[in-house]
Amino acid sequence: MAAAIAAFSLLLFLSVQGASPVLGFTRSDFPEDFVFGSATSAYQYEGAVAEDGRSPSIWDTFTHAGRMRDKSNGDVAADGYHKYKDDVKLVADTNLEAYRFSISWSRLIPKGRGDVNPQGLEYYNNLIDELVRHGVQVHVMMCHLDLPQVLEDEYSGWLSPRIVEDFTAYADVCFREFGDRVSYWTTLDEANVATVASYDNGQFAPGRCSDPFGVTKCTVGNSSVEPYIAQHNTLLAHASAARLYRGKYQAMQKGVIGINIFTMWSYPLTNSTADLKASQRFRDFYFGWVLEPLVFGDYPQAMKKNVGSRLPPFTKIQSEAIRDTLDFIGINYYYSLYVNDHPLEKGIHDFALDISVECRGSRIDPPIGQGRPTSIPADPEGLQLLVEYLNEAYGNLPIYIQETGYETKNGSLHDTDRVGYMKNHIRSTLTALRNGANVKGYFAWSFTDMFEFGSGFRSQYGLYRVDFEDEALPRQARLSARWYSEFLKNKEIQISEENELDGAGSHAQQ
Ligand SMILES: *[C@@H]1O[C@H](CO)[C@@H](O)[C@H](O)[C@H]1NC(C)=O
Ligand SMILES: *[C@@H]1O[C@H](CO)[C@@H](O)[C@H](O)[C@H]1NC(C)=O
Ligand SMILES: *[C@@H]1O[C@H](CO)[C@@H](O)[C@H](O)[C@H]1NC(C)=O
Repeated sequence: MAAAIAAFSLLLFLSVQGASPVLGFTRSDFPEDFVFGSATSAYQYEGAVAEDGRSPSIWDTFTHAGRMRDKSNGDVAADGYHKYKDDVKLVADTNLEAYRFSISWSRLIPKGRGDVNPQGLEYYNNLIDELVRHGVQVHVMMCHLDLPQVLEDEYSGWLSPRIVEDFTAYADVCFREFGDRVSYWTTLDEANVATVASYDNGQFAPGRCSDPFGVTKCTVGNSSVEPYIAQHNTLLAHASAARLYRGKYQAMQKGVIGINIFTMWSYPLTNSTADLKASQRFRDFYFGWVLEPLVFGDYPQAMKKNVGSRLPPFTKIQSEAIRDTLDFIGINYYYSLYVNDHPLEKGIHDFALDISVECRGSRIDPPIGQGRPTSIPADPEGLQLLVEYLNEAYGNLPIYIQETGYETKNGSLHDTDRVGYMKNHIRSTLTALRNGANVKGYFAWSFTDMFEFGSGFRSQYGLYRVDFEDEALPRQARLSARWYSEFLKNKEIQISEENELDGAGSHAQQ
């Protein structure tokens, strides 16, 4: 879970399905080759940041500069580096069919390029072997926000075209070392909003922005131009890695490669022509920014028009190189927004102003602006509309819902709201499928509680609770883990308040 929730610091809530006893569908209503899983990411999960040759990522630097509101960091996180074996057993016990994790680039290649760290290599080999041994399909995110700090120091990371060569070389190591067992590769997490949070509002590492656009006072950066430059290099890096995979590995390893974006469905606030166009413009900026180049070879017209010369152009050769470099689209989905037209303002713009819209969490909320709404309701139907839209707009590519999940603040094991959220979003996915959408997988965010990029340890998404007060960091199954496990056993079970969590279940804490 990352930027947009982070950016707005949301308190999510939704209407739970209540006591309705019948789900109305089972696992077997989904195709055989559809996969259900859950996910984690390296910096959020592994800990062990200074162990076995890992070098710092930009998130180590950012958190240690005290940039999190709760002053937290991922030094220990969920200690997955040491607990992965037990966690994979929990993955299997939960009947998950697939598991998505990310590789820490600075653990595998501590200098950013060049020598592979044998201990880093061993960790990921062990993790992958353990998943394979339990019959769990392996999905790998190659870079989940945690760029090696050395590359940030050397040439400002994603702001430099030099990142393309280094990312490609890193990808080459991943494909070569792990591709015999990994068939699902995603290059980058939330490519769209990660760029905005890192270079526009400064909420994510490396925390660059320029006044008045930052969430805090900005010291270094340029919110008007850097998001566009960073995205440009990101797209070139993705395309270069994807072409390498296709040219050198795909025929033999038979896998697929895609990219991940953060998504929210956008409803027009009214049916005026201006608002209908505004909600389309919103999609062009948030999805088209990444997907139009990688599917069709260029940025959306609406972006060229509003961003003008701050949007770097693709040369003809680049355009050919980037187009058609997706085997699938990975999406993270948490909520929808209501969008209305807002005239382009005079003066300097950041990404948000360039879109020329106002957004709200519901029809009756005030616009979000740079401020913070108190709540955005979950919107399962938005997931269906989104998936159908992406299929239609971007060539019917397969879609993996790589993250969707429910935030709590109280750590409770009795997460009936999360169970309701999962039921509703899985149902909405099924509706999309029945309408003909090409959706292939559903990953619950997150497998365990972890360090959250937006909120540190102040909120939880885990199917499994981690007690961060206890040094042993014990895992405990939430109701949601037990519900998901039974659903995937193809049982329509009801977990009632009486028989839940009596400790006798197979997912008791390790
Ligand atoms: C950002 O870059 C643009 C274009 O180079 C420049 O006009 C503007 O002054 C810069 N803004 C800041 C805050 O440095
Ligand atoms: C806009 O039109 C759609 C389709 O006819 C309708 O479902 C929706 O309620 C309308 N929205 C508003 C705000 O009137
Ligand atoms: C914890 O929060 C959830 C909603 O996020 C709520 O449904 C539940 O009742 C809360 N539990 C406790 C023990 O406060």
